[in-house]
Amino acid sequence: MSKVTIDTDTSRATPSPVPGKRTTVPSIRGRKIDGRTEQPIVMLTAYTMRMAQLLDPHCDMLLVGDSLGQVIYGLPSTIPVTLDMMCAHGAAVVRGSWHALVGVDMPFGSYEESPAQAFASASRIMKDTGGAAVKLEGGEAMAPTIDFLAHRGIPVIGHVGLTPQAVNVLGGYGVRGREGGEADRILSDARAVADAGAFVMVVEGVMEELATKIAKEVAIPVIGIGASAECDGQVLVTEDMIGLFERTPRFVKRYDDLASRIGKAAETYAGEVRSRAFPSSDQTYRPK
Ligand code: KIV
Repeated sequence: MSKVTIDTDTSRATPSPVPGKRTTVPSIRGRKIDGRTEQPIVMLTAYTMRMAQLLDPHCDMLLVGDSLGQVIYGLPSTIPVTLDMMCAHGAAVVRGSWHALVGVDMPFGSYEESPAQAFASASRIMKDTGGAAVKLEGGEAMAPTIDFLAHRGIPVIGHVGLTPQAVNVLGGYGVRGREGGEADRILSDARAVADAGAFVMVVEGVMEELATKIAKEVAIPVIGIGASAECDGQVLVTEDMIGLFERTPRFVKRYDDLASRIGKAAETYAGEVRSRAFPSSDQTYRPK
C-alpha cells in the first residue's frame, strides 16, 4: 500500500494525497476460495478517528464494536449502548480511515424485534457513518433478518458463539461450546448465518475444536476472537491488544503495555508542572 501522510496543518482527519480505493465487501468475501483463505483477514476494533488513522494501514477491516460501551464509556456491558453512540463513533472511524472496510455493530435492541426494525437501524448506521457493513449478534434466530438486510443493500457481518449482548441469558462471558449440545447449536448457528447471506462472520469465545470446525464448514470467512488459529482471520479489541488495560482475558495477546507508559508520561508531566520545569522556553511564545 502507498504511504500517505496526514496534513495536520489543514485537518487532523484527512490524509494527503487522498489514497486509492477502500477494501470492499466482495474483496473480503472473496478471500475465502473453496474453503481456504490464503492470507488471513486482519481486523481490529476502532472507536475514534485517531485510532482509526493509526490502525488503518495495517488492517483489512476496522470494527466499530459495541465493546465501546465498556472501553470508552465505562459501562458494565454492551446492553446500554445506543444507536446514537454507534453512529457518532462509526462516522469518526470512517473519517480516520481510507483503506480498511469499516463495519459498525448494531447495538442491543436496535435489530432483534423484526427485519424491518433492523433495516431502519442498519440504514441509519450506513447513512450516518459511511461504513460499508453492519454486524449483528445471533444465529438461527437472526437468519431471516440477515437475509432481509443482505437482499436490500446492507452487507452483514455475523457474530456467533459467545455473544456479549446475550450476557444475561448466558450468565457471563465464559467460553461457549464446551459440551456437545451447545457446540452443535453454535455450529448450526454459524451455518444459518452463512446461508442467510452474511459475507463474513465473527466467532467469539468458543473451544478451539469447534472454531476450527466452523471455519472448515462454512463458505464465508470466519474471523476468530478467542477461537482458533485455523480461522480465516482474527480480531481483537485494540485497547486490549495495546495493553491499555492491566487485566485482559486469556485469549488476548498484549503487544504493548500502554497503560504503564501512559501512567509514566502523566507522572513525569505532573512532576514537571509542579516543579515549573514545564513549560520551558521551547514551549513558550517570546518576541523573536
Ligand atoms: O464489540 C466488539 O468489539 C466485538 C468484537 C470483540 C468482535 O464484537
